This record gives sequence, structure tokens and C-alpha cells, in this order.
Amino acid sequence: MARHDFSDKVALVTGAGGGIGRAACIEFARAGAALACVDVDAARAQATAAAVRDLGGRAIALVADVTDAAAVERYVADTLVAFGRIDAFANNAGYQGRLLPLVDYPDDEFDRVIAINLRGAYLGLKHVLRVMLRQGSGAVVNTGSIGSFIGYGGLCAYAASKHALIGLSKSAALSVAKTGIRVNTVCPGGTETEMIRAIEAALPRDEAARMISAIPDGRRAWPEEIARTILFLASDDASHITGQSLVIDGGRLAG
Ligand SMILES: NC(=O)c1ccc[n+]([C@@H]2O[C@H](COP(=O)([O-])OP(=O)(O)OC[C@H]3O[C@@H](n4cnc5c(N)ncnc54)[C@H](O)[C@@H]3O)[C@@H](O)[C@H]2O)c1
Repeated sequence: MARHDFSDKVALVTGAGGGIGRAACIEFARAGAALACVDVDAARAQATAAAVRDLGGRAIALVADVTDAAAVERYVADTLVAFGRIDAFANNAGYQGRLLPLVDYPDDEFDRVIAINLRGAYLGLKHVLRVMLRQGSGAVVNTGSIGSFIGYGGLCAYAASKHALIGLSKSAALSVAKTGIRVNTVCPGGTETEMIRAIEAALPRDEAARMISAIPDGRRAWPEEIARTILFLASDDASHITGQSLVIDGGRLAG
């Protein structure tokens, strides 16, 4: 039995082909939502949409690069053509960037990380909130990171983009608060997806092991744990929560 009821509702998820995005699509589908699954990688978007349909849900796959304003307008328009509305938006696509010290960071890689994690989130908010304002309802959940609150020696662009995302999210929340539309951010710690495996692969083995031992509950998150928090924040159970960042990190930031 799903915890939240999204029957007759429409959820739009970016980065839908990745670990957290796919888990969010599955959880939304289990809760009754129709899904628009957006990813820059067509095969990944289609695989997620197929997984939703396998559950008996309704889903379309949409291919878009979230950094491209025209592509963002298109994924929003295509969702409206398919389903007529957008009730929940998981603004989730992200990229960790290369792992290098700041003094060696390639400028074009810095720009790319900021473009995906910050500009992509901004464009998604801009075009989806326009739809939600016309509807008079909706909820957005951005995906931040514990890197929204702490720095990483090798991931300066990632941490900068995720810190900035919190300012963007709070500002978006304030700009629509009077309408009842809500904007929040989930901030995962290390989560079992391809992203963390790519980061690990770029680290010396002992440092990768230290990343896990620094987590007070002794493990990384499962993507489903992040997805369920996204559903909570998008649901009516969170009806008075807006402009917030919810950390899901096994206690990593508590100490
Ligand atoms: N995995 C972690 O440990 C972790 C921790 C904190 C935050 N996050 C955040 O969670 C979100 C999801 O990451 P994940 O762990 O599922 O990673 P993932 O690498 O499994 O998935 C990311 C997805 O985003 C897609 N994507 C990348 N660039 C895109 C673009 N320009 N346009 C559209 N789609 C694009 C990728 O194709 C991929 O399917 C990201 O915002 C990430 O920063 C992840």
C-alpha cells in the first residue's frame, strides 16, 4: 500500500534514468501518478518509462538536456500534451563533474557542472512553476546534496552548484508561497547510484572506504529512501512545508 496518494496526479521527473530519478518514478507510479520521465539519455529515459508501465502505470519518456532552455520548454509542453497538468516536479538531474583540486579544475568542466546542476534546475523551476501557477497548485522537490552544506576538496563545482541550489530553491519558494505552491529540496548523502560509483572510482581505495566509515549509521542511502522523501515533500502531508532542505544522510551532518 503506497504511503501517499497521487491518483489522478501527474509527476514530472528529470534525471529519470538515473538511480534516484528512476526510484522516484517507480514510487510515484506505485502511489498512482502518471509519469513524465525526462533524461538526456534516451535509452535510460525509456527504460524508466518501461519500468513504470510494467507496474501498470502510465508513463512517457522524454529526451532533454536540462541546460537547454528550448529543450526544457519542450519537456514541459510534451508533459502537458500527454497528461494535461503537472502536480509534482522532481527537479533531479545532476552531474558530479570530474574529481580534481580547485587549482587544477578545468574551466569548461566547472561551467558544465554549474550548467546542469544550477541552470538546469533554474530552467525547470521557471517553466514548471509557470504551469503550476496557471493550475493554482503543485509542488516541486529539487535534489540538492549534503554538498549543499559542506565542501569537497575534489568537487568544487559540484559543491558550489548544490550550495547555490538552496538559494534558488528558497527564492522560488518565496516567489510562489502565497499561491500554496511549494518548493523544497532533498539533500542526500552518499546514495547507491552510478554517481557515487563514479566518484569512488576516481578516489584512492582507502579514501573511498573512509567515505562510508564517516556515515554514523554505517551505510549509504538506497535510492528508494531518497525517492520516498521526495514523495513526502510533494504530497499533501507536507502542505505547510516550503523553502526547506531535508537532509537524508544517516547522520553524516549531525556531528
Ligand atoms: N548518488 C549520490 O550519492 C548523490 C548524493 C547527493 C545528491 N545526489 C543528487 O541526486 C541527483 C540524482 O543523481 P543520481 O545519484 O541518481 O545519479 P545518476 O548518475 O544515477 O543519475 C543522474 C541522471 O541525470 C541524467 N542527466 C545528467 N545530465 C543531464 C542533463 N544535462 N539533462 C538531463 N538529464 C541529465 C543522467 O543521464 C542520469 O540518468 C543528482 O542531482 C545528484 O547530484 C546524488
